[in-house]
Amino acid sequence: MKNGEFLTLGIESSCDETSVAIVAQGRRVLSNIISSQIEIHTAYGGVVPEIASRHHLNNINTVIDQALAEAEVKLDDIDLIGVTKGPGLIGALLVGMAAAKSLSFAKDIPIVGVHHLKGHIAANYIAAPELEPPFTAVVVSGGNTDIIDVKDYNDMDLLGVTRDDAAGEAMDKVARVLDLGYPGGPKIDVLAKQGNPHAVEFKRVFLEKGSYDFSFSGLKTGVLNYVNGLRQQGKEINSADIAASFQLAVVEVIVAKAVGAAREYGRRKLALAGGVAANSLLRKMMEEACIDAGIEFYRPEPVLCTDNAAMIACAAYYRYKDGYVDDLSLDAYPVLDF
Ligand code: KG4
Repeated sequence: MKNGEFLTLGIESSCDETSVAIVAQGRRVLSNIISSQIEIHTAYGGVVPEIASRHHLNNINTVIDQALAEAEVKLDDIDLIGVTKGPGLIGALLVGMAAAKSLSFAKDIPIVGVHHLKGHIAANYIAAPELEPPFTAVVVSGGNTDIIDVKDYNDMDLLGVTRDDAAGEAMDKVARVLDLGYPGGPKIDVLAKQGNPHAVEFKRVFLEKGSYDFSFSGLKTGVLNYVNGLRQQGKEINSADIAASFQLAVVEVIVAKAVGAAREYGRRKLALAGGVAANSLLRKMMEEACIDAGIEFYRPEPVLCTDNAAMIACAAYYRYKDGYVDDLSLDAYPVLDF
């Protein structure tokens, strides 16, 4: 506690960001330090798990110190530690988990493990202090494309998942074939602004009627075949048109399913989360569709969309408030049920 405020220290290390945050009263961010390894992994065209773990190990103590210093608090002021327990890269997760458990043990601070996707959803509570459940959440990231019915802070139903590639994964792979570099999502976002989104009609996959699941691998393969076909014929490749057409195909499906779920479940609010939630077309089209449907639209600013520890601290706070607490037997899981 400091100045009567409950302080949560959050730790996130599920992929290639080492992040530590201090959050007051669950929603007020005092610091949110994010040490990104993107430049290191760019050389390999994707995240190399072993390298990620080693860099987390090098960074974690410094990032903890920075987060405390920027928030102007001491470890003794911390009331709760929240840590990502999965899903994610196991070696990477274990570094954050070991740090969190060490602090918990040394300072006798309660610890709460957080499901990474639930952290992404909680980013919306930080971005919009007035937001309360129930609402429909759409988590779109490098590893997930999920629609969730958030009935309460700790009571959620998973309505749909991707059956193959996540939207971000498809974005990264299409960007790679277009030689745009890594990570591909932001590059597609920027390049698409210069292209014609109706230049190529890539196939949208909606699956069975009423299903909230996604499938992006067919679309991704369609784009790869289209580009390789042009290359084989020695024809010119208009990367901006392809990026714009592919991006529109991804976004149209996500928007249609998300708004459909909000309607079916009678939710008047819809919240976007995950790295791909930073995509400008997704934000714009989801907002327009929500306005048309009379649904309030929430989306965190881009820094809260990608992996960060503030969202983990927030989710941990609401778990703790509802009586969930872990102990030092807490473990990390590469795969974790929602
Ligand atoms: O949530 P996140 O930081 O990491 C996890 O997957 O957990 O999401 C990373 C994904 C990557 O696939 C990246 O290409 C994508 O988010 N991404 C974007 C944008 N910014 C990040 N995709 C499209 N448009 C963006 N502006």
